[in-house]
Amino acid sequence: MTEELIVTTAAGVMEIRFNRPEKKNALTRAMYDGVVAAFASAETDPAIRVILLTGAGDTFTSGNDIKDFQQRAAGANTSAASPFLTALSTLTKPLVAAVNGAAIGVGTTMLAHCDLIVAARSARFVMPFTRLGLVPEAGSSLLFPQLLGHQRASAMLLLGDPLDAETAHAAGFVYQVVDDVDLMTAARAVAGRLAALPPQAIRQTKHLMRRGKPDLTDRIGEELELFRARVASPEAAEAFAAFMEKRPADFSRFS
Ligand code: COA
Repeated sequence: MTEELIVTTAAGVMEIRFNRPEKKNALTRAMYDGVVAAFASAETDPAIRVILLTGAGDTFTSGNDIKDFQQRAAGANTSAASPFLTALSTLTKPLVAAVNGAAIGVGTTMLAHCDLIVAARSARFVMPFTRLGLVPEAGSSLLFPQLLGHQRASAMLLLGDPLDAETAHAAGFVYQVVDDVDLMTAARAVAGRLAALPPQAIRQTKHLMRRGKPDLTDRIGEELELFRARVASPEAAEAFAAFMEKRPADFSRFS
């Protein structure tokens, strides 16, 4: 656990909070590693029945740290997200998300692996992969067309259109939308309900629901392979530099 990740446990619920509000909870290697370790400890601890993910401040998470992407492109780093995605997509215990504010990139794609999502009215789901010269990850290219239909998934994955909380609720992507001040109370109530249910029945039901997606592991691997190449691409270099320099990206020179 680092201070950028706060992990607490109470009444059978492990709460994991992204805690880097000054960078909108952008995910660093240490944060991914911390979540992987927390998941592993939850999986082996029979007292933990449910995991609840949330973010500090006004953002769930702004996704992968773009500075880390730049360092990876320069060969200084390897993917920190890959072990996280494996742990996330194979977790056997139920996962609830309390989404406060923006959930960007992996902030949204990780939600497709959550069993129940409670969103604050301020929540906004965005996958700006193409705009960054990237491709989607976490199986989102498979899961989002299934979850939202092809057109809405295209709008999000190709155009980077945001989805607001009410629209996400109407589309069946989130379980509940509540006022921002009520978010944690509502999400903890959902987690508490899950924690009180028979744990084996819950885990087996989650397992059966996941079996309806036999291609998921292959797709996560295929996406990651493309993603690794994209992170080092000139298109992505321009997008990352533009973000860090706070200017619009210019893709006009690319063919
Ligand atoms: N990686 C690295 N730094 C990030 C970041 C990210 N994903 N998201 C935000 N930050 C940093 C900003 O660079 C800024 O740093 P600074 O204070 O040193 O300048 C700080 O967090 C605050 O962000 P800012 O953009 O000023 O806040 P905002 O309220 O205007 O906008 C966001 C918030 C989340 C909408 C905006 O920061 C954003 O779009 N972030 C990038 C999201 C993204 O593309 N993620 C990658 C997905 S694959």
